[in-house]
Amino acid sequence: MTGAPVPKSWISAIHAYVPGKSAGADGRPLTKLSANENPLGTSPLALAARAEPGAPSLYPDPDSTALRAALGELHGIDPARILCGTGSGELLTLAASAFAGPGDEVLYVRYGFALYEIAARRCGATPVEAPDTDYGADVDALLAAVTERTRVVYLANPNNPTGSFLPRVELARLHAGLPGNVLLVLDQAYAEYVDPEDDDGSFELAAAQANVLVTRTFSKAYGLAGDRIGWATGAPALVEIMNRLRGPFNVSLTGQAAALAGVRDQAFVAHSREHNAAVRERFASQLAALGNHGVRPLPSEANFILVLFEGALTGEAAYNGLAERGYITRWLPGQGLPHGLRITIGTSEQMDEIARHLRDLAQAAR
Ligand SMILES: Cc1ncc(COP(=O)(O)O)c(C=O)c1O
Repeated sequence: MTGAPVPKSWISAIHAYVPGKSAGADGRPLTKLSANENPLGTSPLALAARAEPGAPSLYPDPDSTALRAALGELHGIDPARILCGTGSGELLTLAASAFAGPGDEVLYVRYGFALYEIAARRCGATPVEAPDTDYGADVDALLAAVTERTRVVYLANPNNPTGSFLPRVELARLHAGLPGNVLLVLDQAYAEYVDPEDDDGSFELAAAQANVLVTRTFSKAYGLAGDRIGWATGAPALVEIMNRLRGPFNVSLTGQAAALAGVRDQAFVAHSREHNAAVRERFASQLAALGNHGVRPLPSEANFILVLFEGALTGEAAYNGLAERGYITRWLPGQGLPHGLRITIGTSEQMDEIARHLRDLAQAAR
């Protein structure tokens, strides 16, 4: 036999997504603060529901009907305008596949979520990065990067890995500046961590506009990353086209059961948000005290902080130093941030310990 299957050139150009690590270089298990998971675990009600979801010999509901109804009720959205996915990652990827292809451009901000480039390349489109402003999204720069080939704009709000957040007026300005044939995908993976008073208006845009899709996930504040459940909302025509593309039974039996119970346990979500905000604030001020060592925590609305190392202690040395002391974080040279460590907000004890370790490392590096 001669020859071998040849992948499409745009598929060959993809670098696989790099997940957060859970072990050190020597295989030793470490405390994992590299994937923005919930340190409080999962709602006990969701855990109980996923233990008895129904007969595993049967396929799950292909339309996640009960879950969509519960999400619709919680957020005041018609369930017909909601679809569920195998994590929000599935839906983010499908958004590019549905609306872009070879010759088209998919736009996002520099230091955006790593999946956007993969989603663009996967459908043969050209990924385009707009410049940031001090690690945050810049609406003017995004709008200036729009061309007649642009089909999809991705924006994570809050953004991963920077933690930056665009307020409602800026988001509305971004949408208003886009041509109607450009899909604006607002990725709200961390929205449950944002102070409700700072609501960015994404759902209202998705309800009123034909070209806005909002994605959310159960992987973060709901503490269900292992079950892989996400969802999206937008105009009926957007939901309909995405429904044609998604996997037919894309949310598992346990996932649907757990997420449904999770939606009904908003006390757990609120507790996760409040815990995160308190620990994040304390950790940020501990790090800010290391400013004369060139350690700079960026402001964050999410459940992680991007810490920049701009002095004698480098990002790599901080990453290795924390790993030696039992903590795995996310060092980001592959995303143009060799000086950046993204650290998930864990428990207050863990974050106090990390702040102490970073102080010791910074002092030793002088
Ligand atoms: C900004 C952002 N969007 C989407 C996701 C995808 O999460 P999932 O596929 O688990 O819903 C993540 C995960 O880290 C993320 O950080």
